[in-house]
Parts: sequence; C-alpha cells; structure tokens
Amino acid sequence: MDSSMHFALLLALFIPILLHLVTRFKYSSYNLPPGSLGFPFIGQSISLLRALRSNTDYQWYQGRIKKYGPVSKMWLFGSPAVMMAGPAANHFIFSNKDLLFTGTRSVNLLTGRNILMLSGEELKQVRSALQNFLSPEMVIKYVSKMDREVRRHVKLNWVGHKTVTVLPLAKRLMFDIICSVIFGQEAGSVREALATDFQTLVKAALSIPLKVPFTRFSKGFNASKRIRKVLRGIARERETLLQQGHGASADDFFTYMLASRAEGAHLLTVEDIVDNAIFLLIAGYETSSVLITFMLWHLDKEPEVLGKITEEQDEIARNKGPDDALTWDDVSRMKYTWKVAMETLRTIPPIFGSFRTATKDIEYQGYHIPKGWLVFTAQPVTHLDANIFAEPSKFDPARFENNSSIPPYCFVPFGGGPRMCPGNEFARTETLVTMHYLVMQFKWKMCCKDEGYKKDPSPMPLLGLPIELQPRCLPENAHA
Ligand code: HEM
Repeated sequence: MDSSMHFALLLALFIPILLHLVTRFKYSSYNLPPGSLGFPFIGQSISLLRALRSNTDYQWYQGRIKKYGPVSKMWLFGSPAVMMAGPAANHFIFSNKDLLFTGTRSVNLLTGRNILMLSGEELKQVRSALQNFLSPEMVIKYVSKMDREVRRHVKLNWVGHKTVTVLPLAKRLMFDIICSVIFGQEAGSVREALATDFQTLVKAALSIPLKVPFTRFSKGFNASKRIRKVLRGIARERETLLQQGHGASADDFFTYMLASRAEGAHLLTVEDIVDNAIFLLIAGYETSSVLITFMLWHLDKEPEVLGKITEEQDEIARNKGPDDALTWDDVSRMKYTWKVAMETLRTIPPIFGSFRTATKDIEYQGYHIPKGWLVFTAQPVTHLDANIFAEPSKFDPARFENNSSIPPYCFVPFGGGPRMCPGNEFARTETLVTMHYLVMQFKWKMCCKDEGYKKDPSPMPLLGLPIELQPRCLPENAHA
C-alpha cells in the first residue's frame, strides 16, 4: 500500500470519529433523542433502503421503537435525523410550523423551484393556486377527460390481450390523464414527446445527485432540461394568447396559473410555473399508478371483495347508455370501491414516509431536535398497528365503513395538516374511473400467484404484476 492509500484510509477512519466528537460537543447541552447516529452521512440509510427493498420496513421501524422508544436519532440520507412514531408524532410533523417540507436533493435539482422548495408568502400563494386547480369543483370538470383517457387505454392496451403487465400500463395511463389536465387540448402530441423523458426523470429522482455522465442522475438531469424546454415553449405560447385576449377559457394548467397571476393570486414567473407543472406531472402519476396496481393485486386474492365491487360497478353501468361517459355523480356512488382503495392505501401506502427539516431548534416530548436536522414519520407505523387497526394484516375494506371510528392522524396515506396532498380528490376520481372500466370489462388472474413486492422506495410488484385477462360477459344495458 503506498503512502497516499494510507492517508486516504486514515482520513476515512478519522473523519467519522471527528464528526462524532464535533456532534457530541456541539449538542452537549441538548437532550437529544436516544439512538446512535451511526456512520456520518450514511448512518441508517442503507439499512432502511435494504429493509424497504426486502419489504421488511415495518419490522425495521418496530425494531427501533422497541430499542429506543417512539423518538430516536440516526443519520439518514446525508443528514442527522429523528424518526418519530405514532399518531401524536404524525400530528406534530404535519402541523408544526417550524418544520419545513423536505424533498430529496435529487428531486430539488431535477424539478427546480416547485412547491416543495418554497416557504412563507410564496408557498402560501402557490399552495392555494395548486389547491384550487385540484379542488373538487375543478375535478368535476376533469371527469370526462379521465373517462376518455381510460377508455382509449383500455381499448388500445387491454382489450384483445391474453396477458398484460399492470404496473407499466397503469403508469402510462395515469401519466396520460395528468397530461390531459396539465396541457389541455395539446395533450396528445406533447405527452408522446415527453413520456420517455419523464420516466428517465422519475428514475433519477431517487439517485445520488452526481452530474457524472451516463449515471441515472445525469440522464435525468438532461431529460429534465428537454422537458423544461418543451413546457417553457407551451407556457410562453399561452401567455401570448392571454395577452392578445384569447385563450382565457382554456382549461389547462398554464392558462389557469397565468390567468390567476393576472388576477393577483400569485407572483410566479413563467419559469416557476413550468417547475410546478413538472412537479405536478410527477406527483400525479407515480402514486396513483401504484394504487391501481395494488388494487388489482389485492382483488386477485379477495374474490368476495371483488364480487362486491363488481356489483357496485354493474349497478352504475346499468343506468347508463352504451357510450355514455361516467359523470361526477357516478363516481360519487362508487363508495365501496373507494373503501377498497383506502384499504389498499392502508396496507401498501405509495409514499412510505413524510420528511421535514427543522428550521430552528425545537422540542418534542422533552427531547431537543436541533435546527437543520431531518425529522420523519413512516406511514406504515400507524397503518399496521394492531392497537389502531385490528388484525392489521387482514385486507378488510369494511374497516372504512365508519371513518369516524379511525382516530385522527392514524390513516395518513396523503399526509396531513397544511401540506396534505392537494391531489387526493383527483387521485380518488381517476382511480375510480379506471377501476370501473377494468372491473366491467375483465376478469383477471395473476400469472404468478406468489408474486411479492418490494419498495424502491415506491412499492412495486416484483414482476410488475403480469395478469391473464378474460373478457367479462356484461350485464344487460351495461355501457362499458
Ligand atoms: C394515491 C395517490 C396519491 C398519494 C398516496 C399521494 C400522497 C402524497 C403525500 C403523502 C404527500 C406529502 C404530504 C406530507 O408529507 O404532508 C403528497 C404531496 C403532494 N401531492 Fe400527492 N399523492 C397522490 C396523488 C397525487 C396527485 C394525483 C397529485 C396531483 C395531480 C398530487 C399532488 C401532490 C402535491 C402537489 C403535493 C405537495 C403538496 C405541498 O407541497 O404542499 N398527489 N402526496
């Protein structure tokens, strides 16, 4: 071993020890939560990612809670962090004004100055604009677009096929739905150009943010530049149309944001609007496609539940003409189907945790959390707690019969508090429209009965969920 190797080795040993001593000294007057910080920067990251991949993350959280209690410290994803567990912790994290929403560094670099990165007055304005764009009053207008996209996809990718792989099809469908809402009329041509780049971007969102050629991150970064160029062109076009007094009635995201800026609702630049559109496109398709995929996965194993969903959907179809699109009223009647979706979100939440950064020193249950530290809560901790949901491993949509029986901050697939997912109504509607057409038209069987799933960190069936399809004999007058 030459001297430079010796030096590198010594440095590798010395830096963690030094950081450990600095941390101890810096926080000597703090009552930090129990737990070992572990190796600086890396700490528990690899162990948690491994647990997610092997689908043992719940056991991982439980192990920590057993050892250290519901509040414990560690290094995670490059930062000292505190894991908090339980409904009180969820409440604290979702509603504490000194905790700032935190995306990964890669997401921030790839998606630019979007809602995740804003704070103060700017955040208030953008959050309110996005919330309005995704409000139930607006979603009512999107139902016919969703219906059109689902029918087109089913005809193109499902009908006539003996087997299909659900996850990639669900992803493409949800991507096309959110595109039709963001881009309006031009959705078709734009999404063809962008679909591959978006996939590359999403893959890069979870990578190490190093701009080294041919890495996942640098491919994602180049994809994000191409996407931004196309979206900037569209936004400028819509801006010109509005300035010329045209296009005010258009129902796309860009026109909506530019028009609301003209009315004084916010001060976002075109670049900011583009960044938020990119974030909405990503947020709007990854999660919902996971939900649809795992609903089909569960329904394959739960014939009784499938029977009840089928009954509900048949009843809705019976009252419609063969080519009638679904309406908001139809969607509102799919109450049982939504309970199945909620039970799917409970057992396999598409987002495994909510992350925040402390903007100043804060205190929780007598422990100090220093400024700059990461704070996080993991959805499965309450979702799979037998004291909150009896027999938590049982798939039982009936537990959502009486929502008020579920204690606050225990069922949190969409987060909670002021940063709760503003797309929840949108997600509910597109999921129900999709399930209607799938349940009406097909019977399915998983090709591989034992197919499990991993979290990477989004949950995904190991093979993407290949299923055998059979057309269903429709009841009389059914419209699907
Ligand atoms: C099943 C589907 C979905 C799930 C499970 C989900 C879940 C979540 C969660 C857990 C958060 C973070 C909340 C927090 O940490 O407090 C979030 C944020 C967000 N979601 Fe969703 N989401 C879904 C669908 C959607 C859709 C369809 C859209 C848009 C069309 C959307 C847009 C957003 C936005 C913009 C944020 C950031 C809110 C903010 O920063 O204030 N989501 N979502």
